[in-house]
Amino acid sequence: MEITGTTEVYGLIGSPVAHSISPLIHNMLAKKTGLDMTYVCFPVAGRDVRAALEGAFALGIRGMNVTVPHKQSVRALLSSVDPLADAVGAVNTLVRDGDGFTGYNTDVEGFAREAAACGILLQGAGVVVVGAGGAARGVCFSLAKEGAGRIVIANRTKEKAGRIADAVNSWKGETLVIPAGMDILSDTEKLKSLAGSGYLAVQTTSVGLYPDTESSPVDDPEFFAQAAAGIDIIYNPEETRFMKYMRQAGHPAYNGLLMLLYQGIASFELWTGRKVPKEAADEVYAAMQQEMAGRRK
Ligand code: ATR
Repeated sequence: MEITGTTEVYGLIGSPVAHSISPLIHNMLAKKTGLDMTYVCFPVAGRDVRAALEGAFALGIRGMNVTVPHKQSVRALLSSVDPLADAVGAVNTLVRDGDGFTGYNTDVEGFAREAAACGILLQGAGVVVVGAGGAARGVCFSLAKEGAGRIVIANRTKEKAGRIADAVNSWKGETLVIPAGMDILSDTEKLKSLAGSGYLAVQTTSVGLYPDTESSPVDDPEFFAQAAAGIDIIYNPEETRFMKYMRQAGHPAYNGLLMLLYQGIASFELWTGRKVPKEAADEVYAAMQQEMAGRRK
């Protein structure tokens, strides 16, 4: 795409951002939809986030993504925050408004759209979420929003699972999420009584992430045998140990690359008001897969 005097600039702020795949997503979407826009990465340290937002507003930047470590702290610097993003406590997308930027969380939608694309019905589903970090929070809100029937969240530090459960349950107005320690993952009967059998297992910890590719936060064959499907939000490696176990148990397993694609598409749609056609989404996904394969070499 040719950059001209009218090209609108979008971007990502975070630290680090140099290896982000978001420029690939958004520049390809711009090309596919024929919009005169470009997307670049801005490495921004914590002390500079306020100045970066003021500068971005002054420069006429229409929208930005926010990544680690600013997803929480940026909220205080926005003119408004979407109620769902406010409940999640994390913002990953900024849309320019009259006074500054409004914050949204498209990770929540990204997870729901990945599940839909994989043919996984979240409505009424029993789900076991492994991990209780920032990513798990978005996943649990997504599950609650999509009408999951029962969610067990297991984490090494049980208190953190408790905090996510409290936040989601108070947002939902019912006891939907049950916090637990990791030991529940090997307690077949208890897990079955809480999540039902045939649950969706979602892996959100950093265990199994490259280069730690031989590890899984749960190894018990019964845990995988009792599941119906698995999603690991890691996308490097392409097949994590967790996914391998799930497939060995005879169930489908998906990595997190589609979630990454769909959070990007949701941001793009918020910025531009355009609906991304499926064909364009498929082409961007193929390019993302190719990019990741190249990085793994
Ligand atoms: P993210 O934002 O990507 O979710 P995070 O907030 O740092 O990252 O969360 C990392 C998650 O991986 C946490 O659930 C963490 O467990 P703790 O809350 O107990 O720290 C989990 N995790 C990391 N290393 C782990 C390990 N070796 N075993 C089990 N869980 C681990």
